[in-house]
Amino acid sequence: MPVIAFANSKGGSGKTTSALLLAQALSAHRPTTIIDADPRHPITTWAEKPGRPDSLSVVTNTSEKTILDEIEAAAARDPFVIIDLEGTASRLMSYAISQADLVVIPMKEQQQDALAALDVIQEIHRDMKATRRKIPYSVLFTQSRAAVKSRTARHISAQFRDNDHIDTFVTEVHERDAFAAMFSMGGTVAGMDKKLVNGLPNAMANIEALRAEVIAKLRAIRDAEQGRAA
Ligand SMILES: Nc1ncnc2c1ncn2[C@@H]1O[C@H](COP(=O)(O)OP(=O)(O)OP(=O)(O)O)[C@@H](O)[C@H]1O
Ligand SMILES: [Mg+2]
Repeated sequence: MPVIAFANSKGGSGKTTSALLLAQALSAHRPTTIIDADPRHPITTWAEKPGRPDSLSVVTNTSEKTILDEIEAAAARDPFVIIDLEGTASRLMSYAISQADLVVIPMKEQQQDALAALDVIQEIHRDMKATRRKIPYSVLFTQSRAAVKSRTARHISAQFRDNDHIDTFVTEVHERDAFAAMFSMGGTVAGMDKKLVNGLPNAMANIEALRAEVIAKLRAIRDAEQGRAA
Protein backbone atom coordinates (compact mmCIF):
# COMPACT_ATOMS: atom_id res chain seq x y z
CA MET A 1 0.00 0.00 0.00
CA PRO A 2 2.21 2.93 1.04
CA VAL A 3 4.27 4.38 -1.80
CA ILE A 4 7.68 5.78 -0.87
CA ALA A 5 9.56 7.77 -3.52
CA PHE A 6 13.28 8.60 -3.30
CA ALA A 7 13.97 11.93 -4.99
CA ASN A 8 16.85 14.36 -5.27
CA SER A 9 17.83 15.95 -8.57
CA LYS A 10 21.51 15.87 -7.52
CA GLY A 11 23.29 12.82 -8.94
CA GLY A 12 25.01 10.58 -6.42
CA SER A 13 23.05 11.81 -3.39
CA GLY A 14 22.34 8.22 -2.32
CA LYS A 15 18.83 7.62 -3.72
CA THR A 16 19.41 4.20 -5.25
CA THR A 17 21.46 2.88 -2.33
CA SER A 18 19.00 4.06 0.34
CA ALA A 19 15.97 2.91 -1.69
CA LEU A 20 17.42 -0.58 -2.08
CA LEU A 21 18.42 -0.77 1.60
CA LEU A 22 14.92 0.17 2.69
CA ALA A 23 13.38 -2.26 0.18
CA GLN A 24 15.55 -5.08 1.54
CA ALA A 25 14.62 -4.31 5.13
CA LEU A 26 10.89 -4.02 4.43
CA SER A 27 10.81 -7.14 2.25
CA ALA A 28 12.23 -9.22 5.11
CA HIS A 29 8.79 -8.79 6.74
CA ARG A 30 6.28 -8.00 3.97
CA PRO A 31 6.22 -8.30 0.15
CA THR A 32 7.72 -5.16 -1.35
CA THR A 33 8.05 -3.81 -4.88
CA ILE A 34 10.76 -1.43 -5.96
CA ILE A 35 10.08 0.49 -9.17
CA ASP A 36 13.32 1.27 -10.97
CA ALA A 37 12.49 4.61 -12.58
CA ASP A 38 16.06 5.60 -13.42
CA PRO A 39 16.70 5.15 -17.19
CA ARG A 40 20.12 3.68 -16.36
CA HIS A 41 18.28 0.98 -14.38
CA PRO A 42 20.70 0.38 -11.49
CA ILE A 43 18.18 -1.63 -9.45
CA THR A 44 17.34 -3.83 -12.44
CA THR A 45 21.06 -4.52 -12.92
CA TRP A 46 21.29 -5.41 -9.21
CA ALA A 47 18.26 -7.72 -9.52
CA GLU A 48 19.88 -9.62 -12.41
CA LYS A 49 22.61 -10.78 -10.02
CA PRO A 50 21.91 -13.69 -7.66
CA GLY A 51 20.46 -13.13 -4.20
CA ARG A 52 17.32 -11.04 -4.70
CA PRO A 53 14.75 -12.19 -2.10
CA ASP A 54 11.49 -13.59 -3.55
CA SER A 55 9.58 -11.08 -1.41
CA LEU A 56 11.28 -8.18 -3.23
CA SER A 57 9.91 -7.58 -6.75
CA VAL A 58 11.56 -5.20 -9.18
CA VAL A 59 9.54 -3.36 -11.83
CA THR A 60 11.61 -1.73 -14.56
CA ASN A 61 10.07 1.51 -15.73
CA THR A 62 10.84 2.52 -19.30
CA SER A 63 8.77 5.66 -19.76
CA GLU A 64 6.95 8.45 -17.94
CA LYS A 65 3.83 7.28 -19.81
CA THR A 66 3.60 4.07 -17.78
CA ILE A 67 4.78 5.13 -14.31
CA LEU A 68 1.34 5.97 -12.88
CA ASP A 69 -0.08 2.58 -13.93
CA GLU A 70 2.98 0.80 -12.55
CA ILE A 71 2.61 2.53 -9.19
CA GLU A 72 -1.10 1.75 -9.07
CA ALA A 73 -0.59 -1.94 -9.91
CA ALA A 74 2.26 -2.37 -7.41
CA ALA A 75 0.36 -0.58 -4.62
CA ALA A 76 -2.67 -2.84 -5.20
CA ARG A 77 -0.45 -5.92 -4.94
CA ASP A 78 2.16 -5.29 -2.24
CA PRO A 79 2.18 -3.73 1.25
CA PHE A 80 5.13 -1.48 0.31
CA VAL A 81 6.13 0.22 -2.94
CA ILE A 82 9.42 2.05 -3.32
CA ILE A 83 10.36 4.21 -6.31
CA ASP A 84 13.96 4.96 -7.21
CA LEU A 85 14.12 8.12 -9.36
CA GLU A 86 16.87 9.42 -11.60
CA GLY A 87 19.12 12.30 -10.58
CA THR A 88 17.40 15.01 -12.62
CA ALA A 89 14.13 16.84 -12.18
CA SER A 90 11.63 15.50 -14.70
CA ARG A 91 7.97 14.98 -15.34
CA LEU A 92 8.47 11.39 -14.25
CA MET A 93 9.71 12.67 -10.87
CA SER A 94 6.58 14.85 -10.53
CA TYR A 95 4.31 11.94 -11.40
CA ALA A 96 5.99 9.73 -8.80
CA ILE A 97 5.88 12.46 -6.15
CA SER A 98 2.19 13.05 -6.87
CA GLN A 99 1.47 9.39 -5.95
CA ALA A 100 3.77 9.14 -2.93
CA ASP A 101 2.65 8.69 0.67
CA LEU A 102 6.17 9.72 1.69
CA VAL A 103 8.96 11.32 -0.33
CA VAL A 104 12.42 10.57 1.04
CA ILE A 105 15.02 13.15 -0.01
CA PRO A 106 18.46 11.59 0.42
CA MET A 107 21.40 14.00 0.60
CA LYS A 108 25.07 14.00 1.46
CA GLU A 109 26.14 16.68 3.92
CA GLN A 110 27.46 18.79 1.07
CA GLN A 111 26.40 22.14 -0.28
CA GLN A 112 25.39 20.95 -3.78
CA ASP A 113 23.22 18.20 -2.34
CA ALA A 114 21.65 20.65 0.10
CA LEU A 115 20.71 23.07 -2.70
CA ALA A 116 19.26 20.25 -4.78
CA ALA A 117 17.30 18.99 -1.74
CA LEU A 118 15.77 22.46 -1.38
CA ASP A 119 14.81 22.38 -5.10
CA VAL A 120 13.05 19.05 -4.56
CA ILE A 121 11.20 20.46 -1.55
CA GLN A 122 9.98 23.38 -3.72
CA GLU A 123 8.90 20.91 -6.38
CA ILE A 124 6.95 18.91 -3.78
CA HIS A 125 5.20 22.10 -2.66
CA ARG A 126 4.24 22.85 -6.30
CA ASP A 127 2.91 19.30 -6.65
CA MET A 128 0.93 19.71 -3.43
CA LYS A 129 -0.73 22.81 -4.90
CA ALA A 130 -1.38 21.08 -8.22
CA THR A 131 -2.89 17.98 -6.61
CA ARG A 132 -4.44 19.76 -3.58
CA ARG A 133 -3.04 16.96 -1.45
CA LYS A 134 -0.53 16.99 1.39
CA ILE A 135 2.60 15.11 0.34
CA PRO A 136 4.76 14.28 3.38
CA TYR A 137 8.49 14.40 2.83
CA SER A 138 11.62 13.96 4.91
CA VAL A 139 15.33 14.57 4.35
CA LEU A 140 17.65 11.58 4.88
CA PHE A 141 21.36 12.22 5.36
CA THR A 142 23.41 9.64 3.50
CA GLN A 143 27.01 8.55 3.14
CA SER A 144 27.75 10.23 6.44
CA ARG A 145 30.57 9.24 8.73
CA ALA A 146 29.53 6.90 11.52
CA ALA A 147 32.23 8.46 13.75
CA VAL A 148 33.02 12.17 14.16
CA LYS A 149 31.60 14.52 11.50
CA SER A 150 33.50 17.36 9.87
CA ARG A 151 32.55 20.92 10.79
CA THR A 152 31.08 21.46 7.27
CA ALA A 153 28.97 18.31 7.52
CA ARG A 154 27.66 19.42 10.93
CA HIS A 155 26.88 22.90 9.63
CA ILE A 156 24.96 21.63 6.59
CA SER A 157 22.92 19.03 8.44
CA ALA A 158 22.10 21.56 11.21
CA GLN A 159 20.53 23.90 8.63
CA PHE A 160 17.98 21.18 7.92
CA ARG A 161 17.66 19.67 11.39
CA ASP A 162 17.11 23.10 12.99
CA ASN A 163 14.48 24.13 10.41
CA ASP A 164 11.01 23.55 11.91
CA HIS A 165 9.44 23.41 8.44
CA ILE A 166 11.56 20.56 7.15
CA ASP A 167 11.23 17.04 8.51
CA THR A 168 14.47 15.06 8.76
CA PHE A 169 15.24 11.44 9.58
CA VAL A 170 17.06 10.91 12.86
CA THR A 171 18.63 7.85 11.21
CA GLU A 172 21.46 8.51 8.77
CA VAL A 173 22.62 6.04 6.14
CA HIS A 174 26.30 5.86 6.93
CA GLU A 175 29.09 5.32 4.44
CA ARG A 176 29.70 1.57 4.62
CA ASP A 177 31.46 -1.08 2.58
CA ALA A 178 28.42 -3.33 2.72
CA PHE A 179 26.19 -0.70 1.12
CA ALA A 180 28.47 -0.29 -1.89
CA ALA A 181 29.26 -4.03 -2.08
CA MET A 182 25.56 -4.82 -2.55
CA PHE A 183 25.70 -3.47 -6.12
CA SER A 184 28.82 -5.35 -7.16
CA MET A 185 27.99 -8.64 -5.40
CA GLY A 186 24.20 -8.68 -5.75
CA GLY A 187 21.90 -9.92 -3.00
CA THR A 188 21.11 -8.32 0.33
CA VAL A 189 23.28 -7.01 3.14
CA ALA A 190 21.67 -9.63 5.39
CA GLY A 191 22.91 -12.35 3.03
CA MET A 192 26.54 -11.15 2.89
CA ASP A 193 29.45 -13.21 4.16
CA LYS A 194 31.05 -11.47 7.15
CA LYS A 195 34.43 -12.83 6.07
CA LEU A 196 34.17 -10.85 2.83
CA VAL A 197 32.57 -7.59 4.03
CA ASN A 198 33.53 -5.42 7.02
CA GLY A 199 31.15 -4.09 9.66
CA LEU A 200 28.08 -6.19 8.82
CA PRO A 201 26.43 -6.02 12.29
CA ASN A 202 26.59 -2.20 12.27
CA ALA A 203 25.35 -2.12 8.69
CA MET A 204 22.37 -4.32 9.64
CA ALA A 205 21.58 -2.13 12.67
CA ASN A 206 21.68 0.95 10.42
CA ILE A 207 19.21 -0.59 7.93
CA GLU A 208 16.89 -1.74 10.71
CA ALA A 209 16.86 1.78 12.21
CA LEU A 210 15.92 3.18 8.79
CA ARG A 211 13.09 0.63 8.41
CA ALA A 212 11.73 1.35 11.89
CA GLU A 213 11.80 5.11 11.34
CA VAL A 214 10.04 4.84 7.96
CA ILE A 215 7.31 2.66 9.53
CA ALA A 216 6.91 5.18 12.38
CA LYS A 217 6.63 8.05 9.91
CA LEU A 218 4.05 6.20 7.79
CA ARG A 219 1.99 5.48 10.93
CA ALA A 220 2.14 9.14 11.99
CA ILE A 221 1.11 10.23 8.47
CA ARG A 222 -1.82 7.78 8.45
CA ASP A 223 -2.95 8.91 11.92
CA ALA A 224 -2.77 12.57 10.87
CA GLU A 225 -4.81 11.81 7.72
CA GLN A 226 -7.44 9.96 9.74
CA GLY A 227 -7.53 12.87 12.19
CA ARG A 228 -8.10 15.29 9.30
CA ALA A 229 -10.83 13.11 7.80
CA ALA A 230 -12.69 12.70 11.14
N1 LIG B 1 25.79 4.69 2.37
C1 LIG B 1 26.70 4.42 1.44
N2 LIG B 1 27.83 3.73 1.73
C2 LIG B 1 28.75 3.47 0.77
N3 LIG B 1 28.64 3.86 -0.50
C3 LIG B 1 27.54 4.57 -0.86
C4 LIG B 1 26.50 4.87 0.07
N4 LIG B 1 25.53 5.56 -0.57
C5 LIG B 1 25.93 5.68 -1.84
N5 LIG B 1 27.14 5.10 -2.04
C6 LIG B 1 27.89 5.05 -3.30
O1 LIG B 1 27.86 6.36 -3.88
C7 LIG B 1 27.53 6.32 -5.25
C8 LIG B 1 26.24 7.09 -5.52
O2 LIG B 1 25.20 6.50 -4.76
P1 LIG B 1 23.75 6.22 -5.39
O3 LIG B 1 23.88 5.54 -6.71
O4 LIG B 1 22.97 5.55 -4.33
O5 LIG B 1 23.24 7.71 -5.61
P2 LIG B 1 22.01 8.21 -6.49
O6 LIG B 1 21.45 9.40 -5.82
O7 LIG B 1 21.09 7.09 -6.76
O8 LIG B 1 22.74 8.62 -7.85
P3 LIG B 1 22.04 8.95 -9.27
O9 LIG B 1 21.45 10.33 -9.14
O10 LIG B 1 23.18 8.91 -10.24
O11 LIG B 1 20.98 7.93 -9.51
C9 LIG B 1 27.46 4.84 -5.61
O12 LIG B 1 28.70 4.46 -6.11
C10 LIG B 1 27.18 4.15 -4.29
O13 LIG B 1 27.70 2.83 -4.25
MG1 LIG C 1 20.32 6.38 -8.50
